[in-house]
Amino acid sequence: MASLIVTGGRPLSGTIRVSGAKNAALPILAATLLSKEPVALYDCPHLRDVANMLSILNALGVHWAWEEAVLRLDASSANAYVMPQGLSKELRSSIFMLGPLLARFGHAVCTFPGGCEIGHRPIDLHLKGLTMLGVEIREEHGLILCDGCAMRGAEIHLDYPSVGATENIMMAAVQAKGETVIQNAAREPEIEDLQSFLRKLGYGVSGAGSSTIRIVGGRVPSVMEEECVSHRIIPDRIVAGTMLCAAAMAGGEVTLQNAVPAHVASVMAKLREAGCAIQTEGDRIHITAHARPREIKLIETLPYPGFPTDMQAQMFALCTIADGTSMIVENVFENRFKHGAELLRMGASFTQKDRTIVIRGVERLMGTRVAARDLRGGAALTLAGLAADGETVVENAELIDRGYDRLDRMLASLGAQIRREEEKEERNTQ
Ligand code: EPZ
Repeated sequence: MASLIVTGGRPLSGTIRVSGAKNAALPILAATLLSKEPVALYDCPHLRDVANMLSILNALGVHWAWEEAVLRLDASSANAYVMPQGLSKELRSSIFMLGPLLARFGHAVCTFPGGCEIGHRPIDLHLKGLTMLGVEIREEHGLILCDGCAMRGAEIHLDYPSVGATENIMMAAVQAKGETVIQNAAREPEIEDLQSFLRKLGYGVSGAGSSTIRIVGGRVPSVMEEECVSHRIIPDRIVAGTMLCAAAMAGGEVTLQNAVPAHVASVMAKLREAGCAIQTEGDRIHITAHARPREIKLIETLPYPGFPTDMQAQMFALCTIADGTSMIVENVFENRFKHGAELLRMGASFTQKDRTIVIRGVERLMGTRVAARDLRGGAALTLAGLAADGETVVENAELIDRGYDRLDRMLASLGAQIRREEEKEERNTQ
């Protein structure tokens, strides 16, 4: 396992380009199964989750290759609809492969994805939505077997605006005869990016970004003029928010390029409440933080455009050094405070009751050895190391690699004292 070694106390300065969004790239990679033409994806991030998704596509017969900054895929010879078990357990969000597999082959088989570090991650909304499209679903021996040969459009009201369920239903519905309407759909920017890609493939999808999405299904996509479908992945709003939070905690002045300010509005509002000065211009966001962060009265995680749950851990770390008392309520996932125990070891002070945390800010955290328990928690601990006295070792850096393309290099490019150490192989002592 690798670790990130951070020495705190150094302010950040400089400019950094925001990479393409992991949570837009993953469903769009799944949707390449729906393309008759070769696909060229620009700004697809180099992440472990993306590598896992590409391995899954490879197992299904999709050919792909990185050509410098472009990821080229060709699904014309895809020939399997049974998801590889190990890989789809490793990448639990691959459950949204059911939709494109059903649309392409009329059948799909995948494993029941386990829970993960942040919650038991049910998929009832996915399965209920697909069933309403006429998909027959059997669950046996940990497998989900789907027959979607007679899919028909339906009006589907989601009990909760689930991102993955919205994406799954969108991708299946492009081959369900008639119109499908998804009510109470997730409104995340990544859903809009998926819609934009599906429309480039010639499918009739509209309304993404609002709570009502319409899909006209069952038709062969309109004939494409160009022989290749090109798409640029939207910037990653969570990477952008993480870097803004890093600047707020370490202090200094940082400019983000290739950002979408509107996608991080809720995060910027909370950082301004903490005393940061933030200006935006086009795709640039400039943050200045020269004083200790002030308390943030309340952060409540909610579906977009509410405050993103994927930024909760990072803001938790910021509140541990804020001047005053802050409160965080995690409404989206039931077990997403694992980083708290590690922050306590660094000298943080807070009380937890169920999904609510009350944090009393301390002047300085103390560097020590901590362990990442999940992707965003690992990022939060790395940011805490920037603001701690001495050296912090963040173990299990592979978890951070799932959502950041070398977070250590990103922070080092802004002046942080941070390096990555691969754990030496245990030498055989006999
Ligand atoms: C997506 O996960 C993201 N992952 C998550 O990002 C993100 O935290 C989450 O949306 C919320 O924004 C990807 O896009 C790959 P949900 P997803 O379905 O689709 C419950 C990261 O760090 N639910 O919107 O799994 C569920 O238990 C990751 O980048 C059901 O009850 O999220 C949770 O409480 C972490 N039944 C809530 O809805 C279902 O069938 C939100 O889940 C589905 C979900």
